[in-house]
Amino acid sequence: MEPPMNSNLARRQVLSLALGLILATPVLAQDSDKVLVVGASGGTGRFIIAMLEEQGYEVVPTSRNPERAAETVAGDFAWRQMDLTSRESVDAAVRDVDFVVTAHGATQAEGPNDPEQVDWIGTRYLIDVAGKIGVKHYVMISAASAGNPDSPLNERFGNVLVWKGHAEDYLRESGLPYTIVRGPGLRDNPGGEKPIVLEQGGSGRRLMEREDLATVTVAVLNNEAAMGKTFVARNGDGGATVDLQEQIQNLSPD
Ligand SMILES: NC(=O)c1ccc[n+]([C@@H]2O[C@H](COP(=O)([O-])OP(=O)(O)OC[C@H]3O[C@@H](n4cnc5c(N)ncnc54)[C@H](OP(=O)(O)O)[C@@H]3O)[C@@H](O)[C@H]2O)c1
Repeated sequence: MEPPMNSNLARRQVLSLALGLILATPVLAQDSDKVLVVGASGGTGRFIIAMLEEQGYEVVPTSRNPERAAETVAGDFAWRQMDLTSRESVDAAVRDVDFVVTAHGATQAEGPNDPEQVDWIGTRYLIDVAGKIGVKHYVMISAASAGNPDSPLNERFGNVLVWKGHAEDYLRESGLPYTIVRGPGLRDNPGGEKPIVLEQGGSGRRLMEREDLATVTVAVLNNEAAMGKTFVARNGDGGATVDLQEQIQNLSPD
């Protein structure tokens, strides 16, 4: 007859079997796929939320006016109210999400919704709360030439590039995993028709379709190869797009 198994030993064996099973089970993706999109009602933002949803993310779009956004933007989303000019509003809206994507921009050259308020101060509120709740990746759409005080665009639109530059610096220094996608002049022709080019450095007049900018923004989200990188996305004149992932990988970290 077999001797009775020592009960402590049996318990240890059961526990280590259970632990082994837990460690061998992959974390379910659905548990960590919730993404807050700021500026989701905008020209680029509305492409971003559609593409993220198609990829299986749980999308939480924000707007200053969620009722209007729900009526005017395609799709069935649970819009959250948020106004970047109020820290209380930002603190209340940014909760229980894993990722943040931003595609917002000031609507006035001067006034309560100007670049200083929206692209700098409001963006700072966002980065602060994203840090507090520990988001896994913060993707910011910025602008080509951000940080350049000499661009004529500053004079035309409330020093927008100066304020975007401050916001970029704040994000880079926040300790958050981040990617900064700098958009050039944006247009509204269909995407997917011209090559997409990702570059660091370079200058001159550059353009991009909003749909293509959305494609790049979604491609970098939760993408290890894009972490800690700042780059310009633009459309090329002709030819095919070099594989996007390869381009992302070849970019230098900040
Ligand atoms: N336009 C260009 O040529 C250009 C060039 C370079 C970079 N960019 C950048 O590219 C991104 C996309 O640009 P876009 O032209 O596609 O955007 P857009 O159509 O101008 O949309 C701007 C968005 O910002 C939101 N917004 C404005 N004020 C806000 C506030 N106080 N609080 C919260 N949200 C606010 C608006 O949302 P609600 O009205 O629903 O609140 C709207 O969804 C932006 O980051 C922009 O700065 C644009």
